[in-house]
Amino acid sequence: MKPLLIAIDGPAASGKGTLAKRLAAHFRLPHLDTGLLYRAVGWAAEQTGQAPGAAAADLKAEDLDNPALRTDAAGQAASKVAAIPEVRANLLKFQKEFAHQPSGAVLDGRDIGTVICPDAPVKLFVTASLESRAERRYRELRERGLDTIKPRVLAEMAERDRRDSERAAAPLKAAPDAYLLDTSDMDADAAFAAALAFITRKGFRSSGP
Ligand code: CDP
Repeated sequence: MKPLLIAIDGPAASGKGTLAKRLAAHFRLPHLDTGLLYRAVGWAAEQTGQAPGAAAADLKAEDLDNPALRTDAAGQAASKVAAIPEVRANLLKFQKEFAHQPSGAVLDGRDIGTVICPDAPVKLFVTASLESRAERRYRELRERGLDTIKPRVLAEMAERDRRDSERAAAPLKAAPDAYLLDTSDMDADAAFAAALAFITRKGFRSSGP
């Protein structure tokens, strides 16, 4: 049987990151949050004035540990540099190598099932309504002690959705063979159970106890 490679795509705050972490733990697979790569490039370009393409070529593993990358400002910066083909091209090799480890892997992002791993045996496209995603992100930011208001979170998310979906280079879209998971009315446990049922139907099982 082929290694278990799980490609997860979807818009901001759809629940794809949480789902990716849980599936990676369940199947004991390495996990790559590819959004972090674009966040690190956007952040480096804004902070240092370096050209985004060069920042992508120079990216180091330790750059991904910066807590500032978790802010919404870094998310906006990421979605701007993510539209630049040279940035995407310079991040391609690292992602493909991560995906094709003999152990298998879980990757989450916007173009995993369409561009990075079109051959992945398991593809999930995780969505939720704009309102429920904005509500989740608002609560998450408040819990982290960040001062914000809901209409602003919603407007910024709508802007990022539009930028990610309308760009010419690897726009956010579901692969034709992806399993669509709408988490608007699901909690993290329900989303995990639905994804696991799909993966099991594909013939993959966890090797653990
Ligand atoms: O966690 P959240 O969904 O808010 O953001 P993220 O996954 O960290 O991604 C930040 C931005 O990076 C997105 O808005 C995309 O523009 C870009 N991105 C991308 O273009 N391709 C990927 N594979 C992952 C992220």
